[in-house]
Amino acid sequence: MTGRKFYITTAIPYANAEPHVGHVLELIGADLIARAKRLLGYRVYFQTGTDEHGQKMLEAATKAGLSAQEYADRIAPRFQDLWRDLDVAYDGFVRTTDPSHRKGVVQFWQAVRDNGDIYLGKYEGWYCVPEENFVLESQLHYGPNGERLCPQCGRELIWHSEENFVFRWSKYQSALEDWIQSHPDFIAPAFRANEMINSFLRPGLQDISISRTTIHWGIPVPDAPSHVIYVWFDALLNYITGIGYGTDDDRFREWWPCDLHVVGKDILKFHTLLWPAMLMAAGLELPKRVFGHGFVVLRGAEKMSKSKGNVVDPRELLAMFSGNPDPLRYYLLSENDFGHDATFTMEGLVSKYHADLADKLGNLLARTLSMVTKFREGKVVRPDRFSPSDEAIRNAVTALWQPATDGSPCTLYEQLVDEGLFAQLLQKCFSAISAMNAYVTEHKPWALAKDTQQSQRLDQVLYVLVEGLRIVAAQLFPVIPRSASEIWTQLGLSKTPDKVPFDELSTWGAVGETRVAPRGILFPKLEKLPD
Ligand code: MSP
Repeated sequence: MTGRKFYITTAIPYANAEPHVGHVLELIGADLIARAKRLLGYRVYFQTGTDEHGQKMLEAATKAGLSAQEYADRIAPRFQDLWRDLDVAYDGFVRTTDPSHRKGVVQFWQAVRDNGDIYLGKYEGWYCVPEENFVLESQLHYGPNGERLCPQCGRELIWHSEENFVFRWSKYQSALEDWIQSHPDFIAPAFRANEMINSFLRPGLQDISISRTTIHWGIPVPDAPSHVIYVWFDALLNYITGIGYGTDDDRFREWWPCDLHVVGKDILKFHTLLWPAMLMAAGLELPKRVFGHGFVVLRGAEKMSKSKGNVVDPRELLAMFSGNPDPLRYYLLSENDFGHDATFTMEGLVSKYHADLADKLGNLLARTLSMVTKFREGKVVRPDRFSPSDEAIRNAVTALWQPATDGSPCTLYEQLVDEGLFAQLLQKCFSAISAMNAYVTEHKPWALAKDTQQSQRLDQVLYVLVEGLRIVAAQLFPVIPRSASEIWTQLGLSKTPDKVPFDELSTWGAVGETRVAPRGILFPKLEKLPD
């Protein structure tokens, strides 16, 4: 295979509950990037999975009256099915209970231990059970009665003390500082890097406990089976075990280091400070970049939580659109740039669907196809030349193919994708769509059709619309893959955007002749609005 490789991962959600709309944002955001990179000609490997060990898992299973393994076997497919129904085109799925994962974790542990970075020690401190995390004294929050609370989730901490294996995290303090300083792109968006440095790195890293004897649900520590490996130490390793670490060296060498870890802002610390230190300790290369995306929040910046009973179920949102995932994908990805929180409201979802997808994009497609059918019996031919107003549309549509503004040798399109500037990217696509709608109003093809002198002009106008739609649909493909493919089919193209080389996909005028194939409304208006 040719093309530069691009290995992208998401965090692996805990399989202790059903997927929610927050998980959806992460997966479709990563899917956008993976699909865009594929269009641009990269060889992509996109990995996700489920995190199935740890105390939280065990508690959820016990509550459901199942063993932890049975419970994980029930929940993991719920994630896989949802990703399939949302058209998330991942290549690999790691379950941390997979034997191949376990094998890689054991090998990694031995490598770090042999390097002298794991020792047996007594570990105690304030521990957050739901977050599976020890909290530093300096980070503690206090409740009204002086109880210690987790700064992350606000729940009460317990004092936890046990003898266990400890990872020499502190040893990597200065190496991490150097790495972060000399790789300004390592933590994205850039504003999150300061938080990592000031809140966690500067105060000093303390060695961290990486085994537990109090629970028995996890991967046993090599040569000390009364301990299981701490769930974060185990889970982070999915990024290497999924591509063959411990089982297939050639494959591992082909894909590692990872090009992009996509994770939520709440777990950036594990990915930018613990994970690189672990890799250094095992003598492995570090990932190129970690992107900390924002959260899906509810109105008034309210956080979703099971205890508040306000968790948005993605299945209901899919059902609203008869199983078409594109309205939800479009809404979540256009609501804000990926690095920032996105507010979810039902009204927002419905109104964006109607205003952007139905009235702008759907309408442009419908009127274009109907005019081509009516005035040209479905046939579109590339004209020899274009007028200045046609050039203006071409410029609007191809603006995203212009060079990046940050000096990097890529297109503006790729720059916006790389920086997670999804809302800006979509605004650019939709401003080209609006320009095309205005172009129809201005040039009135129905009037041109009545005037035989204007036959050539009508050909030009119809070609501009079809060609403009072809390119905009290709740009939108990573966001709304199903609808973009349908647009290409209705335009009479024989392939979908992911099946043509980037040059052909992006070049204005690459299509000589087509015969359109309209087949129904792309984004029907919702008749019944949700309560
Ligand atoms: N199991 C760990 C990740 C281990 S990765 C080696 C975990 N699981 S999680 O289920 O709590 O979260 C999975 C991902 O979903 C994380 O990246 C997290 O930030 C993200 N989100 C959880 N709630 C979210 C929102 N409300 N909005 C957006 N993303 C959210 O952490």
